[in-house]
Amino acid sequence: MEIMRSWQLPLALLVILAASSAAAAQLEIGFYSKTCPDAEKIVQEEMTKIIAAAPSLAGPLLRLHFHDCFVRGCDASVLLESTPGNTAEKDAKPNKSLRGFGSVERVKAKLEAACPGIVSCADVLTLMSRDAVVLSHGPHWPVALGRRDGMASSATEASNELPPASGDVPLLAKIFASKGLNLKDLAVLSGGHTLGTAHCASFDDRLSNSTVDPSLDSEYADRLRLKCGSGGVLAEMDPGSYKTFDGSYYRQVAKRRGLFRSDAALLADATTGDYVRRVASGKFDAEFFRDFSESMIKMGNVGVLTGSQGEIRKKCYVLN
Ligand code: HEM
Repeated sequence: MEIMRSWQLPLALLVILAASSAAAAQLEIGFYSKTCPDAEKIVQEEMTKIIAAAPSLAGPLLRLHFHDCFVRGCDASVLLESTPGNTAEKDAKPNKSLRGFGSVERVKAKLEAACPGIVSCADVLTLMSRDAVVLSHGPHWPVALGRRDGMASSATEASNELPPASGDVPLLAKIFASKGLNLKDLAVLSGGHTLGTAHCASFDDRLSNSTVDPSLDSEYADRLRLKCGSGGVLAEMDPGSYKTFDGSYYRQVAKRRGLFRSDAALLADATTGDYVRRVASGKFDAEFFRDFSESMIKMGNVGVLTGSQGEIRKKCYVLN
């Protein structure tokens, strides 16, 4: 599959944004041009095979990068396994539903075969999440590279720092602000919920009779109750197009069919509600694509390690 489409080419502004915010984070476009010139191509080729075989992995791979960046920055700490003395991020409750670790190891192994010890797991994950979006028919954005891999991973930190599905906008905005991301980034990045599925346990508190959530469309609630009650485990977050990156998540939220309280909350707040309704109109999908690219570039710069900090792991699940 062609990874960049022609209508996305005039995004020169994104390149400038990526380069300038990367400079602040000390990352660089083309960071591996001398040390591993085919790095991006290798990731892209493997990702094309991975998503062709399992299109439903795009969502999990995007989510992995988000959960990495929100805890200790984008340093691949989410990929580390627990050790006898340490419970890692991966084993924190909100991370139990993460998937795609095997795919990251597969891509990393290809890179190690081509250029041993050069490309960090943090960069691999950043590139994979971008390619997951592109391969799901979403936007393409330039990724500045040079992240290094962290040496620590803590389940307690993950539990404390990841946004809860029950969060309202003030809480979510506070968590995003602590990562240098603003209210618009919150509205835009929540659009990542156009991809993927969620476990009934993540939203069934909105369905039970005693606590039924009035911000959830009642017909939709009935459908979800039926699905989860009859032994179902997963629900599509953007029903009908959960493998396609598009603006239809906002159309669901605008119809009070966002799956989590955190999705529904976006509609209730004036600023984020305006954004939801704007994209939901169907006239601004291209603007959403640009916004998403910008916010992903910002998220990919959160708390990165560079220079001689951290290490370049050989395998992403274990320190060297
Ligand atoms: C705003 C705060 C957010 C909250 C509270 C939140 C919460 C959640 C929850 C509870 C799930 C379901 C997990 C499960 O039950 O399996 C989920 C899935 C997902 N989230 Fe978020 N999320 C947020 C932001 C984001 C962001 C910023 C992105 C990416 C840009 C993202 C991408 C995804 C994706 C792609 C999935 C589906 C994963 C899969 O298919 O396995 N989320 N999120």
